[in-house]
Amino acid sequence: MRAVQVVRRMDEGENLESEGRLEQKPEGVVQVDKSRVASSFGRAAERYDSVAYLQRLVADQLLEWAQLSDVTGLVLDVGCGTGYVAKQVLRDYPALACLGLDIAEGMLQYAQRDQSNDAGKVHWLCADAERLPLADSSIAAAVSNFALQWCPNLSNALTEVFRVLVPGGRLLMTLPAHDTLRELKESWRRADTSYSHVNEFPDEERVLRDIAAGGLRVRRAARISRCAYYPSVVDLTMELKTLGAQNATLGRNRAMTSKRRYQDMLAHYERFRCANGKLPATWRILAFELEKPRD
Ligand SMILES: C[S@@+](CC[C@H](N)C(=O)[O-])C[C@H]1O[C@@H](n2cnc3c(N)ncnc32)[C@H](O)[C@@H]1O
Repeated sequence: MRAVQVVRRMDEGENLESEGRLEQKPEGVVQVDKSRVASSFGRAAERYDSVAYLQRLVADQLLEWAQLSDVTGLVLDVGCGTGYVAKQVLRDYPALACLGLDIAEGMLQYAQRDQSNDAGKVHWLCADAERLPLADSSIAAAVSNFALQWCPNLSNALTEVFRVLVPGGRLLMTLPAHDTLRELKESWRRADTSYSHVNEFPDEERVLRDIAAGGLRVRRAARISRCAYYPSVVDLTMELKTLGAQNATLGRNRAMTSKRRYQDMLAHYERFRCANGKLPATWRILAFELEKPRD
């Protein structure tokens, strides 16, 4: 397949901001402002790789855990960010073609500029995982690392992946789950009951329900727990900001948080300080190998 690079803008009339704000969500669905997701990650692109060590670790584990050696054709990386996973897939399986798809144009522009590691062979597409501009049964396999938790409606995204996969095609997916950043969440909850300050991550049952609703079958599932340690809460929040993983919940406070509330949150977080003198941040990641049944 010839290497053609494509960066497509959203279709005219697709207004992410209004979609994010106005859509009625069924109970339990994570409420996310997609326009903020796209702009935060777009701005983060230049520095994302310098702090994405957990994302890299998990991506490498995923690709080792679920091999793509039996796949021929086009592999889709959903929420590809700077394109690490897509590029790794091409490094490990040079005969495959790869399409990196992301909602943040800034991420794709950065990914496209990097010509190392066969990056020039990846195609790039700017689109929403919940509305894939791809034909039915056109994708041999899909991967998605640390991305689909940003979809307000995970089952929409999984239904879309199901639609575009060939029968028997697999989706290798990781996403942080409910308990992730629980220390930060609890500290904010104690300091400020009016607003959400931390992104919501879907719980395991919800993810399993959404997988089933999308029509995909679980071949294998795994949980990965990691704890990162920081000298201070500022170090943690700076890292989240550098990753582009800022609070995009619709219930966030759009004005400045008061200094007193912020200081309260810091004081609550101190209660988690460990014997190593550092503050912990928990990550609970779910990994799945999913399949579109052949019948
Ligand atoms: C934490 S980054 C992960 C990037 C990459 N997969 C990696 O492993 O480094 C999450 C990515 O998902 C993208 N994303 C979030 N919501 C999306 C959506 N609805 N459709 C497509 N991409 C989305 C973001 O723009 C961001 O680049």
